[in-house]
Amino acid sequence: MASRGNWGSKLGFILAAAGSAVGLGNIWRFPYTTGRNGGALFVLIYIGCVIVLGLPVLLAELSLGRATYRNPVGAFRAIRPGTKWHFTGYLGVLTAVMILSFYAVIAGWTVGYIFKTLAGQFNGLEKSGVAAVFSSFIGSPWLQVLLLAIFIILTAYIVSRGVAAGLEKFSKLLMPLLFLILVLLMVRSLTLPGAEKGLSFYLKPDFAALNGRVFLEAMGQAFFSLSLGLGTMLTYGSYLGKKESLVSSAAWVAVLDTSVAILAGFIIFPALFSQNMAPDQGPGLVFAILPVIFSHMPGGMAFGAFFFLLLAVAALTSTISILEVPVAFLIDEKKWPRRKAAWLMGGVAFLFGIPSALSGGGMAFFSRLPLLHVDFLTLWDKAWGNVALSVGALLVAFFVAHVWKTANALQEITAEGARFRLARLWAIAIKYVCPLLILAVLVSQFL
Ligand code: PFF
Repeated sequence: MASRGNWGSKLGFILAAAGSAVGLGNIWRFPYTTGRNGGALFVLIYIGCVIVLGLPVLLAELSLGRATYRNPVGAFRAIRPGTKWHFTGYLGVLTAVMILSFYAVIAGWTVGYIFKTLAGQFNGLEKSGVAAVFSSFIGSPWLQVLLLAIFIILTAYIVSRGVAAGLEKFSKLLMPLLFLILVLLMVRSLTLPGAEKGLSFYLKPDFAALNGRVFLEAMGQAFFSLSLGLGTMLTYGSYLGKKESLVSSAAWVAVLDTSVAILAGFIIFPALFSQNMAPDQGPGLVFAILPVIFSHMPGGMAFGAFFFLLLAVAALTSTISILEVPVAFLIDEKKWPRRKAAWLMGGVAFLFGIPSALSGGGMAFFSRLPLLHVDFLTLWDKAWGNVALSVGALLVAFFVAHVWKTANALQEITAEGARFRLARLWAIAIKYVCPLLILAVLVSQFL
């Protein structure tokens, strides 16, 4: 297995896996999804989904990857050769390319914002000024495609360098820095006049807002944020040695990931409400409010630019993990050289990303799709980042529990004497709770 690559250390693995989990999903997607789904109640359901669905599936993916030392397609094949189960892996590979395509567009926004902030384009602006800069930015077709290309190139370059030299090294340093700057921003935001209104939106559940859609959004967000349902964690687990504990790795990843998301909410909502802005405006939310905070802060220009830089890096540690899925597939199953696989799959994601890059106004057709009346990026985010992920997670849970069997998975989880005190609880969750709950939520959407 030496040729596939390995993590340099357990810490390296945890930071890379947490680097995959922590990204735009936490700081861009979590706040806007929370804002659209009524606030505090969504947060509660989200946390429930992380514990009840996310953690069990995370452990299932890690054990599947490490037991087989394979990519998602190869892992299913190795355990049930000659069946159709490996199509779950193909679904993961496809989902990865599609998620990367729109995720890299938002990541491109963060890169654009580094330069805009540095150039002082937000200086002294109020919310309407920032909104105008934002909409002309996302409405510039060439710039959007260029930023998408830049981000894909960065991603493909790192992935082409391999597991320890590429994936691991880039994740290690910047995660702690991101955390620190988020805490600073939270303090700033909480001390803004009118912050209490934001806090009550974020923390006081309004049960009247409950509906089926909230569950799907919370579940999808939990899988998205933990990088589950498309084989990313499976693939990352496949580079891990037998002596590392999967249980503590999974716990670390979930705790870090969830704290960053919750923290992001403490930044965004107080700031939004102190500016009397609507929380339900969708994907542009964070990009419309943050510059307003920075422009009213001493040293806001430097601080803001630094923040967007870290956000870009957080996005990069996620995009590399997404690209790693199709790349690992091509390396293992098709014997491609890593470099060729990384650049080619990056290129495919770029092409599929173009409609998303044009959906902010660059091309009317993609800004408002006929019949569906949403923009392309929002549609792709829903379809792949929510529904496809949930279907993937459902299949993984069902496969591990009922085809591979929990006893075999537990043997992998407790390899080399690793302790797992909640093994029975996990078995129940992965056998019954995950498959039934995910299915129920998905079906309720289409009824
Ligand atoms: N978890 C990442 C985030 O929250 O930004 C996004 C992501 C990474 C989704 C990897 C899916 C994935 F496989």
